[in-house]
Parts: sequence; C-alpha cells; structure tokens
Amino acid sequence: MDGSRVVTPLLAARGVTKCYRNGAGWARAAAATRAVDGVDLAIAEGETVGLVGESGSGKTTLAHLLAGLLAPTAGDVQFEGRSLAALPPDDARRFRRSVQMVFQSPLLSLDPRWRVGDTVAEPLRIHRLAAGGALREQAAHWLTVVGLDPALAARYPRELSGGQRQRVAIARALVLRPSVIICDEPVASLDLSVQRQILELLLRLQADHRIAYLFISHHLGLVSAVAHRILVMHRGRIVEEGGNPALFQHPTHPYTRTLLASAITPQTMS
Ligand SMILES: Nc1ncnc2c1ncn2[C@@H]1O[C@H](COP(=O)(O)OP(=O)(O)OP(=O)(O)O)[C@@H](O)[C@H]1O
Ligand SMILES: [Mg+2]
Repeated sequence: MDGSRVVTPLLAARGVTKCYRNGAGWARAAAATRAVDGVDLAIAEGETVGLVGESGSGKTTLAHLLAGLLAPTAGDVQFEGRSLAALPPDDARRFRRSVQMVFQSPLLSLDPRWRVGDTVAEPLRIHRLAAGGALREQAAHWLTVVGLDPALAARYPRELSGGQRQRVAIARALVLRPSVIICDEPVASLDLSVQRQILELLLRLQADHRIAYLFISHHLGLVSAVAHRILVMHRGRIVEEGGNPALFQHPTHPYTRTLLASAITPQTMS
C-alpha cells in the first residue's frame, strides 16, 4: 500500500450499525439484536478483503448493508466516497450495477423456473443494457468466461451440478461489469475440489477484470487463500484487522487467537 496517496475507497462502511427488531408485543420489547455494531471498513479497487467470523457474528448482515439490500440503523455506507442514502438516481443506478453479490447457496439464489441463459441475462434486461439476440449473446459470452459450455443456457438450475450453479451465479454477477463483488460464503455449499475451482475462477476474474471482492467465510483457511487483507468480526464488531498473512503471525485480539487455534491452519488451502 502506498501510504502517501489518499485514495477514495470504492465501497466503505463508516460507523455502520444494524439492529433487528422483530416480533410484536413482549418479543418486540425484548432487547433488539445489534447484528452489526459500529463497523468501519473500506474496499479499494481490485483488492480482496476477507471477512471472517463465527456463525451469527454479523457477516451476512454487513454484506447486505454494503450491497444496499438493508439500510443501516446508524452510520453510513459509502460508494466512491458518497453516502448511499444521498446518491442521486443516476449514481444510485451505477451503484446497483457496480456492486454485486454472490450468495452461499446457488440453489436458493437462482430461480428454479428460469433457464440459465435467462438468469444470466436478466440483470442486463433490467438495466436496459441489451435486448433480444444481444441478451443471448451476452449470456453465452459470460457463461464461457466462467468456464461453462454456453449450451447450458437452455438448462434449468436443477439440471446442473453445485459447482456449475455457482458459476452461473458468478456469471450473473459479472454481466453488469461490477467493480465489487460481495461473496458471502461462496463455496460453503460445495465439495472441496469444487471449492478450489471456484476460488481459482474468482482469482482469475479479479486478474482479468480488476474486480474487488469482499470475501466472507467462517473458514479462516479459505479466507487466507484469497484475501489481501483480513478483518475479523466478532459479535457485530470488527475486532482485528491486518494484512495476510501478517494477521496470523501476530494476532493481538483474544478472539483472533481462539479462531486461529480452532482453525485448520491458513496454509491448508494455499
Ligand atoms: N432478519 C433478521 N431478523 C432478526 N435477526 C436477524 C436477522 N438476520 C440475522 N439476525 C441476527 O443477527 C445476528 C447476525 O446474523 P448474520 O446472519 O448477519 O450472521 P453471520 O455472521 O452471517 O452468520 P452465519 O455464519 O451463520 O451466516 C444473529 O444474531 C442473527 O440471529
Ligand atoms: Mg451469514
């Protein structure tokens, strides 16, 4: 990192907090869950930020806040230095194109009633970036980019393997040429050998298209295989942050040490 230059991050959280208030009556009166609690983070062009933390630590909630799918209770999510809440319509549209998500379960994130080609092309149709034959051409192109036979465009998600489905989900995220992809446990539902193939695909896409990733996992080994920088989340807060692998060599927070002690070593995946 060049410390002499001040670069505006692509995507940032500034003191972001999210409280869930569910239920009615006595359930509502119970203390709200503070799922994300005063989080600061910044993602720069082309970098991979790893976010690691145990189940329930607030990773998915933070992902949804950064993707604009949830509004923060307090604090600010910023795209290219400007608050999402105050983006003019044109910039808000650009934000929705530039920041995409890949979810844990492609079976849940892909519509079972849609053919693969329509699924991949849909964001282009919604954003009115292509129509008719151009949609089919684009879908075929991006299926090829993620290593799939474009003939799979005619299939339904149930007719694909888990790894193929996740490639379709990645192709769908890519068609809008995003600058950031938020990957929430993108390989957790896959077999080990397929996990490695998908990680390799993500790394290749980053090299070819200069995409930044927020790579979320509860698996320290996976995060350390891909991330330039790692944030450790615990009970809604970022408790430690460091370069990869420096963070592992000198963990300062007790939670990070616990995480390291209980993890398969970071070297396992590399
Ligand atoms: N829609 C919701 N309504 C109420 N509480 C929620 C909601 N979503 C998440 N929570 C709570 O917020 C906290 C953080 O959940 P979140 O899903 O963000 O964690 P996570 O780190 O992604 O966990 P996992 O590793 O299991 O995916 C948990 O206590 C969870 O029960
Ligand atoms: Mg989650």
